[in-house]
Amino acid sequence: MSKEAKLELDGKAHTLPVIVGSEGEKALDISSLRADTGCITLDESYGNTGSCTSRITFIDGEKGILRYRGIPIEELAEKSTFIEAAYLIIYGDLPTRDQLRQFSELFTEYQFLHEDMKYHFESFPSGAHPMAILSAMINAASCFDDELMHWRWGKANSQFNIYAAKLMSQVRTIAAYSYRKSRGLPLIYPKRAYKYTANFLHMMFSSPYEDFELRPEVVKALDLIFLLHADHEQNCSTSTVRMVASSQANLFASASAGVCALWGPLHGGANQAVIEMLEEIHREGDDGSKFITAAKDKGSGRKLMGFGHRVYKNYDPRAKIIKRACDDVLSKLHVTDPLLDIAKHLEEAALKDSYFVERKLYPNVDFYSGIIMRSLGIPVEMFPVIFAIGRMPGWIANYKEIMDDPKSRISRPRQIYIGRALNHYVPLEERK
Ligand code: SDX
Repeated sequence: MSKEAKLELDGKAHTLPVIVGSEGEKALDISSLRADTGCITLDESYGNTGSCTSRITFIDGEKGILRYRGIPIEELAEKSTFIEAAYLIIYGDLPTRDQLRQFSELFTEYQFLHEDMKYHFESFPSGAHPMAILSAMINAASCFDDELMHWRWGKANSQFNIYAAKLMSQVRTIAAYSYRKSRGLPLIYPKRAYKYTANFLHMMFSSPYEDFELRPEVVKALDLIFLLHADHEQNCSTSTVRMVASSQANLFASASAGVCALWGPLHGGANQAVIEMLEEIHREGDDGSKFITAAKDKGSGRKLMGFGHRVYKNYDPRAKIIKRACDDVLSKLHVTDPLLDIAKHLEEAALKDSYFVERKLYPNVDFYSGIIMRSLGIPVEMFPVIFAIGRMPGWIANYKEIMDDPKSRISRPRQIYIGRALNHYVPLEERK
């Protein structure tokens, strides 16, 4: 593998260093390109542009590989838990028993919101989307913490563990409260005795009279969903978190921005869009064939939601795991869901259809995840929120990677201007 690439421009030769990652990925380092050639590169929507080097997650889109700190997602899904995987993603190694206990204890210590946060919940209209509430309330929660309001790197490093745990813990409480408020239900406080995922289900579904029955298969299924969403290298929302982090804004502000990016139906909002799509197909008595025809027709404005991926040109390994879990969880809960049959039929038909095969469009993480969340009683508008709770460790780890890098600089991409040439102000009375 050559160590540099040669570029010829206007008869002049330039060399660009070649960077090779630990898994053999190759990149041309263009950091000196503008100084050497006066040119920048242009790559709309960053399909071919690396924004950073990172040690957190590795994806091989051609082979359908996903690893958190080198450990395959399949092993973590089978043997680990969300909190253990979160520790691995944030700190780089699987935790010892002691480290895991201390990490867990921080969640318990910081799981309550400031009581005055309740007034913020009052101000949202009942139809407010929980992702709008989540983003707003993550920032609102930071307003009750003087350290976050005066966040300065250097000082913040020593506090980082506390704020990482506080964010992960409180995002769960905020999410559950936003659900309860949207239904006009009294808020349910977290319990000291409950672990992370169980406490979230308790805050979501318990009543003042009796605790929600925490069936092990329900807790485990949701914990798996969180784990599978925990990180995914430089996707749209994680790149947003890194962009905001690079200005040295505080951790909560970065996560709040990440929630907004994740909400879009092309990204974390797709899990909600998939269920809405399957429900529409079910309502119309279609077996999916009509919808697939529409999804192939650019003019229809329809897409097969939950299908396709910028990086995976093979089956998203998370989708495989979730599809298996769907059958397992629904049978354990004695639930049958016609939407699962429709989803499986859609997948089977699409994977035989040249339109999808030629474009290497496969099911992604969002295609089956909504079916499991539905079976757990989670309302569809909360699906992107579940994604956001799961993605918190990844966002925190990416924020930490920037904060710990002494060479980190504010992210500031360039552009190529294609607007009007120089012109001048025209007084109102002279305008036609
Ligand atoms: C997530 O990046 C990540 O890692 C994200 C994520 C994570 O963990 O963070 O994995 C989570 O966001 C998963 C993706 C969820 N979104 C969806 O399921 C929405 C439906 N999918 C598409 O919108 C699309 O596939 C994207 C957004 C996922 C990827 O878009 P790209 O890479 O920009 O691809 P594209 O839109 O340029 O598509 C290439 C071709 C086009 O056709 P042609 O112009 O070549 O004829 O494929 C077609 C597209 O029209 N196409 C689809 C399609 N997805 C792509 N056609 C029909 N249905 C689809 N779902």
